[in-house]
Parts: sequence; C-alpha cells; structure tokens
Amino acid sequence: MRLKNKSAIITGGATGIGLATARAFCKEGAKVVLFGRRKEKLEKAVKELGDSAYFVQGDMTSNGDLDKLINEALHNLKGIDILVNNAGLFNGSPLHEITDSQWDEMMDINIRSVFQLTRRVLPVMMAQKRGSIINISSILGIVAVPQVAAYNVSKGALNQFSRSIAVEYGPYNIRSNSICPGLIETDMTADLMKDASLMKEWSKDYPIGRFGKPEDIANGCLYLASEESSFITGAVLPIDGGFTAH
Ligand SMILES: NC(=O)c1ccc[n+]([C@@H]2O[C@H](COP(=O)([O-])OP(=O)(O)OC[C@H]3O[C@@H](n4cnc5c(N)ncnc54)[C@H](O)[C@@H]3O)[C@@H](O)[C@H]2O)c1
Repeated sequence: MRLKNKSAIITGGATGIGLATARAFCKEGAKVVLFGRRKEKLEKAVKELGDSAYFVQGDMTSNGDLDKLINEALHNLKGIDILVNNAGLFNGSPLHEITDSQWDEMMDINIRSVFQLTRRVLPVMMAQKRGSIINISSILGIVAVPQVAAYNVSKGALNQFSRSIAVEYGPYNIRSNSICPGLIETDMTADLMKDASLMKEWSKDYPIGRFGKPEDIANGCLYLASEESSFITGAVLPIDGGFTAH
C-alpha cells in the first residue's frame, strides 16, 4: 500500500482526473475528501470509492466553503498529508475579445482559489512537518496556444505558485509539484473530442500517438503523493505523450 495511513483532499474530485486520482489513492490505502459543487456527482463518486472516501460540497471561489472543507477534512481525516489542487476551468476566445468577467472568472478558479485553499492547508502540514501538494496545471502553462490566453496565463501562474511553495516550505518537509497534462479525455474536453478532423490534426502533436486518459494523470499524482518521490519538489512534470518535447 503506497499511501497507507495517508489522507488527501482532492478538489474537483468527483469527475475526470480528480476522480481517477481518488480511485488510485483509495486503492493504495489513502482516505480522501472530495470537494466540488455538484452533490449528485460527489455522492456517486463516494458510493463507488467506499468507506475511505468523504465529500464536502462547495465552490472553490467561496472562502467560507474552503473553511468548511478544512474543518470537515480535519474532522474526518485527522490530518492532511496530500492536497491535489485539481478543480479548474477551461474556455477560450480571441484575446482582444475576452471580457473582464471572463478573465476574472478564469483567474478566480484556476489560481486565486488555489492560493486560498493552499494557504489554509499549509499551517496543518507545517504542524505535521510533512505534506505533498500537487497542482494540476496544463501543457498550456508551459507553452502558449492561440485563443486561450486567460487559461495559458492562469496555468503558467499555477506552475510558478507551485515552485514558490516548494522553496518556501521545503524546510517543513512539504513538497509541491505541478503536473501538466496534455489533452485528456474528460468532461472538460468531451465536446472538442467530438470534432474528428480537429482531433486528427491535433494528434500530430502527440509523438506517442494518442491523447491521454485520466488514469495517466492519476498515476503521476500517486507517485508525487507517495514517499517514492520524497526528493522531488518544485518540479513541473508534463504528462503529455511528448507534446512539449517539440
Ligand atoms: N482534460 C484535459 O485535457 C486537461 C488538460 C490539461 C489540464 N487539465 C486540468 O485538469 C483539471 C481537471 O480537469 P478534468 O479534465 O478532469 O475536467 P473535469 O471537468 O472533469 O474536472 C474539473 C472539475 O473542476 C470542478 N470545478 C470547476 N470549477 C469549480 C469551482 N468553482 N468549485 C469547485 N469545483 C470546481 C468541476 O466541477 C469538475 O469536477 C483542471 O484543472 C484542468 O484545467 C485538463
């Protein structure tokens, strides 16, 4: 059991990459708290995961909901060893047409709320003298592509936020790493993936010859959560079939 006696918070944990990560963590002995907005999805996920999973319903952009998450997680888990900052928003439009509210919403969900949750978890991890923070960024936090400027910026900021935690909290035995997924088959990309000709064009950018599955990212999270990665912090890890290699 690679995560025996470990406890984790996973935001956006009821779907896609978050749910696959919860499955991988529970299988390896962890207790998990899933955080998200949609009660039915959370209930379904917890039912599947069994006794070691709990959920807290709430919105990442509400500080009150984040306080509730921390209180309930500490009550159910007796500590927080792993934080997976996974919840995120993706959308696009030409840069000069992005409205103030679209820009603000992207920054609120993808970076500001990550800061708000992480600043609440850090004192718990500091007191424990251990912790692993995993930030689900994107290949678009490493390279830029057109029409998604706000997303590019939010995920680039998340990578730098992740490094900032690593350098500041390493002395407390708290590690922080980013994972940068390439295109992964989830609800977020379901509509895009229906466009066969677009997918044929995009697949040329993936040397490994396929797009990713949520489990590809979950396996990376499992490694970064476990003691096997105890000397890895401040890393920005693409899991992208080679997209960022060229
Ligand atoms: N799917 C991809 O191709 C891909 C690629 C790179 C990065 N990512 C990143 O992976 C992460 C997970 O995405 P996914 O692909 O699993 O899609 P997804 O839509 O299944 O997951 C996103 C989750 O975030 C939650 N969420 C969004 N806003 C929230 C809010 N304000 N409060 C609480 N929860 C909120 C959603 O409800 C959902 O459960 C995201 O951060 C995304 O940017 C995905």
